[in-house]
Amino acid sequence: MEHSQSFPQNFLWGAATAANQVEGAWNLDGKGANLADAMVAGSHDIPRKITLTIDEDKYYYPSHKAIDHYHHYKEDIQLLAEMGVKVYRLSISWARIFPNGNESEPNEKGLQFYANIFKELKRYNIEPLVTIYHNEMPLNLVTEINGWADRKCIDYYVHFATTIMERFKDDVKYWIPFNEINDLTTGVGNWNHGGILNEGTETFQHQVDEPNKRFAALHHQFVASAKTVIAGKKINPNFKFGTMICHITVYPLTCHPDDVLLTQQEDQLRNCFSGDVQVKGYYPYFMKSYFKKNHISFITEEDDFELLKEGTCDFYTFSYYMTNCITNDKNAVQVSGNIMGGAKNPYLQATEWNWQIDPVGLRYTLNHVYDRYQVPIMITENGIGARDIFEDGEIHDDYRIEYYKEHIQQMKLAIEDGVDLIGYTPWTAIDVVSCSTGEMAKRYGFIYVDVDDQGNGTFKRYKKDSYYWYQEVIQTNGANL
Ligand code: BG6
Repeated sequence: MEHSQSFPQNFLWGAATAANQVEGAWNLDGKGANLADAMVAGSHDIPRKITLTIDEDKYYYPSHKAIDHYHHYKEDIQLLAEMGVKVYRLSISWARIFPNGNESEPNEKGLQFYANIFKELKRYNIEPLVTIYHNEMPLNLVTEINGWADRKCIDYYVHFATTIMERFKDDVKYWIPFNEINDLTTGVGNWNHGGILNEGTETFQHQVDEPNKRFAALHHQFVASAKTVIAGKKINPNFKFGTMICHITVYPLTCHPDDVLLTQQEDQLRNCFSGDVQVKGYYPYFMKSYFKKNHISFITEEDDFELLKEGTCDFYTFSYYMTNCITNDKNAVQVSGNIMGGAKNPYLQATEWNWQIDPVGLRYTLNHVYDRYQVPIMITENGIGARDIFEDGEIHDDYRIEYYKEHIQQMKLAIEDGVDLIGYTPWTAIDVVSCSTGEMAKRYGFIYVDVDDQGNGTFKRYKKDSYYWYQEVIQTNGANL
């Protein structure tokens, strides 16, 4: 291990997961189906099919079993505690609490499951960081009202959010109302972030897009987030709320002014817009012209803008996996990405799934967002999806160690630049089902789970080399990398 300077004493070292990617037990103890449960397994080349009627005889749906965290949570939390995490980012499944999304009374067994998790975390002194909504909503709301396209969703969501905030007011301090709320700035966000299935959409990868509906849905989420923050501060004034942006950092492919301008516009739309609404409390000026130019309009209510002003977030969080280049050149070679791809950067390597690896871009991004918002920052997702080789109970994932090492070094430099970075929850704590491909083979965890792409395996947990490495990083507060 190389020696470098340490992080601030109270730095929140952690790790992250999301309910639909780990829990399994998709229809146990009163849980309803959610939209993730309707997504068939795919791969890098096979798009994930969406079936509103769930047909387990015909298809394999990876979220139904996932890694069976529902029955392994004690063991999983014990492993996280042993790794030394101070914070654990998890999400609460809406359909486990309100199976159809619109009931007045919650499902007590669902609440009990999370109460058990918080109890376990408390035992080990691990701070929970709870995402209220992470790529799942009750399937009933998708089929009944087309998800967030309908304004009624605001009330259903706020009822869900206040129910869990009331119930866990003494267990949880940090809340994220929406994972990657900016996903709805792209067409791919319709389904898994917006619960919107437009006519003609058959797969997650190829969706029919109706921008008016999509931006209305995003507006509804902004209002729901603001209402949640306002309600939450009444429930417990010590609550802290964070925005969560899928930060697609973009560079101009060339220094041609047209490329530079296009890059600025992409950054404004994809990254800045949603952060501005949630942290600054208003729609930024550039969205007015964007809506006008693109003939986008949707219905808002007068009070909405007052709510946005009042219900702002206290801290800024983001996911960071890659950077992309932007150009006007239609022939530029393209690479993939999570909510959007871009032009290939000749200076960067990419993962097997073609996501470009860019540690220095993380320092750049940290400075970019801190400069804009001046609130504490957390990186709530960062990691590498890779095909791990499992041999005699060991996994030698030196590529993952390398990835984290280089990113953490850049975090340190950003802190020296003056960025108020307070925490880091890499993606993921433990192997999970990949969101975009539905594979297990695209592994992210520090902990390996013996289950394959079709749900076969012992579900036994094994520590990867990166587990021991990260344990030492945490122990030395980032001094040993
Ligand atoms: C983020 C999501 O965008 O990317 C996670 O919040 C997701 O849920 C992660 O798992 C990595 O993407 P993927 O498609 O490789 O699982």
